[in-house]
Amino acid sequence: MSPAALTPEPTFQVLPLIKRKDQKFSFGAIVEGLDLNNISDGDVKRLKETIWTHKVIVVKNQRDLKPEKHWELVTRFDPEASQVHSHGDLKTFQQKGGVLSKARDVYGIPGAENVRLIGKGYQGDDHYGLKNLTVKGLSNDFHADPPDETEFAEGITRFQRWHIDAPLYARDPAWFTTLRAVKLPTGPDVTIRWDDGSGLSMTSPPGLTAFFSTSQLYEMLSPEEQRLADHSWVEYAPHPYMWIENCKAPSTGLGLKSQGKEHTIEELGDYDERDIKRYPFVWVNPITGEKAFQVHGLAARKLFLRSSASEQPKVIDDVVAIRSFLHDIQPRVLRPEYIWLPEVEEGDVVMWDNYGTFHTAVDYPLELYGPRTMHQANVGASRGPVGPVPIPATC
Ligand SMILES: [Fe+2]
Repeated sequence: MSPAALTPEPTFQVLPLIKRKDQKFSFGAIVEGLDLNNISDGDVKRLKETIWTHKVIVVKNQRDLKPEKHWELVTRFDPEASQVHSHGDLKTFQQKGGVLSKARDVYGIPGAENVRLIGKGYQGDDHYGLKNLTVKGLSNDFHADPPDETEFAEGITRFQRWHIDAPLYARDPAWFTTLRAVKLPTGPDVTIRWDDGSGLSMTSPPGLTAFFSTSQLYEMLSPEEQRLADHSWVEYAPHPYMWIENCKAPSTGLGLKSQGKEHTIEELGDYDERDIKRYPFVWVNPITGEKAFQVHGLAARKLFLRSSASEQPKVIDDVVAIRSFLHDIQPRVLRPEYIWLPEVEEGDVVMWDNYGTFHTAVDYPLELYGPRTMHQANVGASRGPVGPVPIPATC
């Protein structure tokens, strides 16, 4: 009997999404009937499989989830992982987090420090022990050319920064991220504009997270491009988010503008060569076997391109050329029909697969919609991504 057959049937329900006709994204499900404060080992295993399978899920009605139980669940997803948030402890994150820690304030919940408060505005007199806290929160500062202030005040906004939750140095990317909506802003839908000349836009309730599937992106590649992707790999910069801390995004929030603002490697200070991450372009889903084109363009320092295992790779180590290569591929999936912004309610937890999706926050005007409070947790994975073809151990 296989180990899978020994796992009891889940006690929770996985409901398919009811999509509008114009929605063509190929992921997402709703989970009901769980109490994450009290979840069996069998249900943890099934929930994990549900995330790998559906990539982004909304676990309903976890209003009373205790932060320590939230963290415990994350560690139960990957018990062999070292028990720290994928971006390290708060001190390390603030020192080396670069663009990530600069962009917003991040606070650990007292007693469950690895559960991070992410939000915007006033968090109340006493939020799980954090007293009278006002959080600057996300902004559109990352954009080289931010949205017009008057329009933004009326709810016209952008995707903030498309990314995966991945340190890309020292620790492997978290398999999953969990994000519980504690308090959500309220008001009319915001309008998210591409502002790249395409005329594309979409609307959404304020304060949500947007996702696209990089498996769906992989399916959009030609057979030749897929062959290239299957055999190629990327090397990330040491302390990659420090490296790009002065860089800015194009108006879509996907990738970086090349303005010569990267630090030199010397400016990054000490780093350990063994901690530099080299990953295949394509990451294979451990449950479904789907392939995802999962290259984090922000942090890529070298691309190694080849279309077969026997070929000598062509090395691209110029950031302008790296971004141009990725810009030919990644925006194919950056269209309203392929993007899902799960409409969570307070108490819901979104859980996503960082190995098959990209996501981004969407900023909104605080004055119009009010504060936002989220609890986020993930753990650096015990095993990193696996490609369809092994890449050389060193290069
Ligand atoms: Fe994120």
